[in-house]
Amino acid sequence: MNKKSFLKELEKIKYPGLEKSIVQMKVVKEITSKNGKAIILLSMQNDEAYLKVKSTIEDTFGDSVKVKRVTPIKKSINYGNTSCPNNRAPYAKRVIAVTSGKGGVGKSTVSVNLSIALAQKGFKIGLLDADVYGPNIPRMIGTAHEKLQWNENDKIVPSENFGIKIMSVAMTTPSSDTPLVWRSSVAVSALIQFLEDVEWGDLDFLVIDMPPGTGDIQLTMAQELPITAGVIVTTPQPVALDDVSRAIMMFKDINVPIGGLVENMSYFIAPDTKKRYDIFGSGGGEEIARRYSIPFLGQIPLDMQIREFSDKGTPPVALGNSDQKSCYKQIVKNLLNEIV
Ligand SMILES: Nc1ncnc2c1ncn2[C@@H]1O[C@H](COP(=O)(O)OP(=O)(O)O)[C@@H](O)[C@H]1O
Ligand SMILES: [Mg+2]
Repeated sequence: MNKKSFLKELEKIKYPGLEKSIVQMKVVKEITSKNGKAIILLSMQNDEAYLKVKSTIEDTFGDSVKVKRVTPIKKSINYGNTSCPNNRAPYAKRVIAVTSGKGGVGKSTVSVNLSIALAQKGFKIGLLDADVYGPNIPRMIGTAHEKLQWNENDKIVPSENFGIKIMSVAMTTPSSDTPLVWRSSVAVSALIQFLEDVEWGDLDFLVIDMPPGTGDIQLTMAQELPITAGVIVTTPQPVALDDVSRAIMMFKDINVPIGGLVENMSYFIAPDTKKRYDIFGSGGGEEIARRYSIPFLGQIPLDMQIREFSDKGTPPVALGNSDQKSCYKQIVKNLLNEIV
């Protein structure tokens, strides 16, 4: 087999977790031959991905090949130094990281509506769905049917809807019920690729829907990006507030400035009687904001239409009623007051 036919075969091997081949991903550095064996040199950082690719190549070609590896020179990752992070997104003037203590509190809904409200003010917005545990931005913004695409410059083309550019880890899985079974190291390299290899263009804001909690991914993002502001989403009940306190403490520990706290599902107005019910208690968010001296950005009621709009991919800030629009817009106004 000559080099050309080897390359042709290698083109059929996908990079683990992606639709692109290892040739397209430019990890095949060299094909040489020695003692009648082809030596394929791969340049791969990630151990797990390398072992997968190596065994696929060995299964394909059998004894006629030997797979070797060079580890690419790591771009300077200054671990533990979040006070002077790298900048993987130099195209973005500001980076907003939306996070929460736990899942299900409305972090993604807030990310989507906050991004669109910013776009409605004329800002250029990119929204990165970095929640590897529950990447549901595409559904909420009506782009769930889209697949990963590359342009002629080998850059990933983001989806676009409601005036913003969108990229989600969900786009790397073939269907919406395929779980992302990623170790955090794989998730981190995928996210860094989304920062570096997506054709975002110039952005006024890159909004990131972070995974909930206080883990590896949050820490790495704080090391790899100069985050302008963290926006923390919580619901008002004490168990959620316990978790959100940890998220606030983590941001403070890793030097991420906190843009403020959003209280979601704050109260419920019965559509028939207009009576207000504080389902998860009241005042919890404001109290936490006071306790940690962070800005309180606003409340969003528990509203069945917000859920329905989000499930349909028609965000309430764009297509909802005036009350729904105004609560997100008020939050954006308060946030801009804090950070611009
Ligand atoms: N203010 C709200 N009123 C009603 N439903 C909401 C509200 N905010 C979010 N939801 C719904 O709650 C669920 C969880 O919200 P989501 O944004 O996915 O949370 P997270 O990203 O924190 O896991 C979704 O079904 C969403 O549509
Ligand atoms: Mg979410």
